[in-house]
Amino acid sequence: MKLVLCKNYEELSKKASDIVATIIRDNPNAKLGLATGSTPIGLYQNLVKEYNDGKLDFKNVKTVNLDEYVGIDAKNTQSYRYFMDFNLFDRVNIDKNNTNVPFAQGNLEESVKDYDKLLEDFGQRDVQVMGIGANGHIAFNEPDTKLNMHTSIVDLTEETIIANSRFFDSKEDVPKKAISMGLADAFNCKTLVVLASGLSKHDAVEKLLNTTKIDTQFPLSFITLHPNCYLIVDEEAYKG
Ligand code: GLP
Repeated sequence: MKLVLCKNYEELSKKASDIVATIIRDNPNAKLGLATGSTPIGLYQNLVKEYNDGKLDFKNVKTVNLDEYVGIDAKNTQSYRYFMDFNLFDRVNIDKNNTNVPFAQGNLEESVKDYDKLLEDFGQRDVQVMGIGANGHIAFNEPDTKLNMHTSIVDLTEETIIANSRFFDSKEDVPKKAISMGLADAFNCKTLVVLASGLSKHDAVEKLLNTTKIDTQFPLSFITLHPNCYLIVDEEAYKG
């Protein structure tokens, strides 16, 4: 794991977007794994800027996303599909048919099977971007006695519901379940870019940097197993 220390969120976003942009420039058919949450927004803004400056072309880029809330319509502004369209896909020349976010409505068992099949066909991503939960979750793989390898329907912890309630009118509006990629699929990438910004992530970052074991109760610890992982953190997340 390569630790990349940044002064602030701006620098973190630039470091992350440089990695992703280089991958796209090296391979116009790049396959990207993308993430939601507030942390990668700056990275997406930088990619949009590079596209607007004529420095990036998304025409043949393909994407998969890590997760989606259960029971929220794609048109709902809180859905992760909406987030991706709003922050990136609608702002660049990507073919929306080449973008994939789990479909988390209706028959969820079918959606899980479909997403697993999609991930298998999609194959290894050139890069996977990932934020972290304050409790050390990655995608929506929450601390537990056992973690999933592949896509599954997951219960969100009270901590995550509270953390994510800042995006909703009230805590009660936050979905209690999500569909999430499992760890084997989340890590099926040549390069893993993990981002942590702000004080709320400090405890998780500190625990990660001091941990000597892999622990299902701390899913973030598993990133240490990836052969090419960048942990990009800003000063607040690093120092507290
Ligand atoms: C959600 C997502 C995670 C994300 C986390 C952190 O729980 N499922 O993928 O990493 O939020 O979000 P933020 O970046 O807003 O702190």
